Amino acid sequence: MATTATLKLDDKEYPLPILIGTEGEKAIDTRKLRADSGYICYDQGYGNTGSCESAITYLDGDNGVLRHRGYPIEDLAQHSDFVETTYLIIYGELPNAAKRKEFGLLLRQNAAVETQMQRIFEGFPKDAPPMAMLSSIVASMAAHYPQLAANNFEKDLANFDLAAAMMVSKIRTIGAMIYRYLRGLPYIFPKQELPFCENFLHMMFSEPYKDYVASPEIARALNLLLLLHADHEQNCSTSTVRMVASSSANLFTSISAGICALSGPLHGGANVSVMQMLQSIHDEGDDGTRFIEAAKSGGKGHRLMGFGHAVYRNFDPRAKIIGKAATEVLKKLGVNDPLLDIATKLEQAALKDDYFLSRKLYPNVDFYSGIIMRALGIPTNMFTVIFAIGRTPGWIANWREVAANPKGRIYRPRQIYVGPVKRDYVPLGQRS
Ligand code: SDX
Repeated sequence: MATTATLKLDDKEYPLPILIGTEGEKAIDTRKLRADSGYICYDQGYGNTGSCESAITYLDGDNGVLRHRGYPIEDLAQHSDFVETTYLIIYGELPNAAKRKEFGLLLRQNAAVETQMQRIFEGFPKDAPPMAMLSSIVASMAAHYPQLAANNFEKDLANFDLAAAMMVSKIRTIGAMIYRYLRGLPYIFPKQELPFCENFLHMMFSEPYKDYVASPEIARALNLLLLLHADHEQNCSTSTVRMVASSSANLFTSISAGICALSGPLHGGANVSVMQMLQSIHDEGDDGTRFIEAAKSGGKGHRLMGFGHAVYRNFDPRAKIIGKAATEVLKKLGVNDPLLDIATKLEQAALKDDYFLSRKLYPNVDFYSGIIMRALGIPTNMFTVIFAIGRTPGWIANWREVAANPKGRIYRPRQIYVGPVKRDYVPLGQRS
């Protein structure tokens, strides 16, 4: 296999090194192209551009492959849980029993949100978007824990284990508190003896004098949902975390930026859009046929939400797992949700329709996730918050790769300028 590519430009030749990843992915290294030739590469949205070398997650979009640190998502979904997968994604190895116990304890010890931080919630209106609250309150962690947010890689890496555990544990507590605040309910504080997901559901749904005790089925379903969202290579929000981290920003600040990116309806906000789409189809008495025809217009306003992906040109393996789990969870909980029937019909119709097949549009992680969350009693406006809680391990691991890279540099893409060329200033009195 070639180790160098040659670019012929303006009757000159430029040798460009070839990089090959451990899974055989190939890249042309253009880091010296501008200095040598005066040309830059242009790739709007970076769809064909590698911004980094990473050892966390491998995606093969053509074959629907997703692995975290080499472990297939199917195996992790079947055998692991969210806390263990979080440890794997952050530290690179599955924890042994001692490490798993130590990590679990660190998470339990750092679950509470301090009283001063609680005051921030009061600054939001009762109809505030939960993701706007989440990004703001996570950003404030840099103010409340300055010893973990020095904006200095050496210092912040020295405190990484505590900062990472705090981030994983507190974003879950903050999510539950946002749910309670927006409903005018008193906060329910974490119980150290509860496992991660059971504690979240306790903080969401318990009452001051009556504990909510999650059934094993419900806790398992939430574990699976969070695990399946834990990381996904250089998606929009993770790339945002790396971009902000590259300026030597601390973990909390960088993750707050990732939360902002995730909130968009084309990204993490899609799970909310999917439920709104299914509900509107149901309310209009459509069985999905009319909607599919409208979605084929492709306009961003009529898209089949939860379908299509910037990388997968095949099934999103997470969608397959969640789709199967949605049916099983609803059956176990004895929930009969007409929206699941509509989603199943939409999927079956779209997978026979040339418009979707020719564009390689398949269900993605968001298509069925909302069905499960609704069955767990989580309201639609909290779906993307759940996605953010799940994605936090991936964001943390990517922040650490940037912070620990001795050859790292600030992210600073170039552009092709298409604005006005040089022109003289016109005094006010002479302007038309
Ligand atoms: C996530 O990157 C990640 O890894 C993200 C994620 C993660 O875990 O982090 O996997 C999570 O964000 C999943 C994606 C959730 N978003 C949605 O479900 C929103 C609906 N999907 C689309 O908007 C779209 O598919 C994107 C944004 C996901 C991907 O967009 P692309 O790859 O830029 O595709 P495109 O906009 O260039 O569209 C290509 C064609 C167009 O038609 P033509 O111009 O060729 O005629 O496909 C059409 C689009 O109109 N198209 C759709 C469609 N998605 C693309 N048509 C109808 N319904 C859709 N959903």
